Amino acid sequence: MILTAAGNIIIGITGGIAAYKACDLIRLFVKDKFCVHPVMTKAATEFITPLTVSCLSSKKTVVDIFDSSIEGNVGHIELADIADLMLIAPATADIIAKIASGIADDPVSLISMAFYGTREKPFVIVPAMNYRMYHNPATQKNLEILKERGVIIIDPEEGELVCGETGEGRLASVDVIYNVVIKALDETRDMKNINAIVTAGGTEEPIDPVRVISNRSSGKMGYAVAKQLKKRGAKVTLISSVDLPDPGVDEIAKFKTAADLKDILDSKFPSCDLLVMAAAVADFKPKEQSDKKLHRSDGGITIELEPTDDIIANLAKDRGDRFIVGFAAESEYMISRAKSKLESKGLDMIIANDISRSDIGFGSEYNEVVVLDKNCEKTIKRDLKINIAKGIVDEIASMI
Ligand code: CTP
Repeated sequence: MILTAAGNIIIGITGGIAAYKACDLIRLFVKDKFCVHPVMTKAATEFITPLTVSCLSSKKTVVDIFDSSIEGNVGHIELADIADLMLIAPATADIIAKIASGIADDPVSLISMAFYGTREKPFVIVPAMNYRMYHNPATQKNLEILKERGVIIIDPEEGELVCGETGEGRLASVDVIYNVVIKALDETRDMKNINAIVTAGGTEEPIDPVRVISNRSSGKMGYAVAKQLKKRGAKVTLISSVDLPDPGVDEIAKFKTAADLKDILDSKFPSCDLLVMAAAVADFKPKEQSDKKLHRSDGGITIELEPTDDIIANLAKDRGDRFIVGFAAESEYMISRAKSKLESKGLDMIIANDISRSDIGFGSEYNEVVVLDKNCEKTIKRDLKINIAKGIVDEIASMI
């Protein structure tokens, strides 16, 4: 599943005449580079076709809870997990009642349950129905229940209804819905004023034109942090040595050696507010490099190594009020080593992980880390790196 720079929105469409207006909403979100995941009830498909919705969103419309092609192993959970916001427009009295009471027997109510129950992410419901159905005490009670749970309800407009009657029940205008969604998403963008640099991947120090001294860093943790920062509104420059898919950041610069990385950081660090140094930097490099390939037939060789600059420690000396986060991949004495690096390098925060474990860390999709700063120590339990990144960014956001 692709995470776009703008974010992921689930749009639930239920069976009402206003269903066609969902098409305009999808177009607006897609135009603004959101990834829109449509979900429809069977009743909604009586008003507009899933094909129309799929064409507009460029995503398969979920119309069947047993559809095995919903992305992920447990599709509705993964979809709910990855979305930044869920919107139901139009929402019938029926779907409102189901969500208020926890019924999950159609795609929209099912995904609502998975979305709403697990994350503090905006959930926007836009009722549209006959005014008598809207004012029915059952509907009003259900809307109250949802509001109390933090769901954003966009009240319907008053006007002529399709049944010929006049009253409150028309779907709020597409512009109003669009603006509420953008504002709700904006409020989740707690890093929006931050200019961040994230480094990712390992360095390569050449021995000759063919061989290098490198390390096993995959860069995945750094990319996950960059993606998370971007999602939360930061301007992100990713400085990377690996070829992973672009996580939708503002700029990517590439490095190979520790010296390359230092040069790039020297030019970019002064204009940043936050540096997250997830790159695994070589501590030593060959003192001399052969410009010609070394041959086995020449016999054994001894490579003399010299230390590289401690990039993060040097940057931290002249950091002003920039926030600096380092990483410490340790195989023993993890906490004490991380604490001493936090202090000796002059960092604001260090993220320690245990590389002796085979179920997390290098190359794995999973990690478990301990976030340390001067005053506290917090474990973020084993999880997908993208979720670990969310926990790390939560910690940074609470301090920056
Ligand atoms: N780091 C750096 N420059 C280096 C080495 C490391 O900026 N030459 C940064 C890493 O990107 C990381 C932090 O320092 O954010 C800690 O890296 P680590 O390799 O654990 O620290 P070292 O000081 O190299 O200690 P060790 O001997 O344990 O490798």
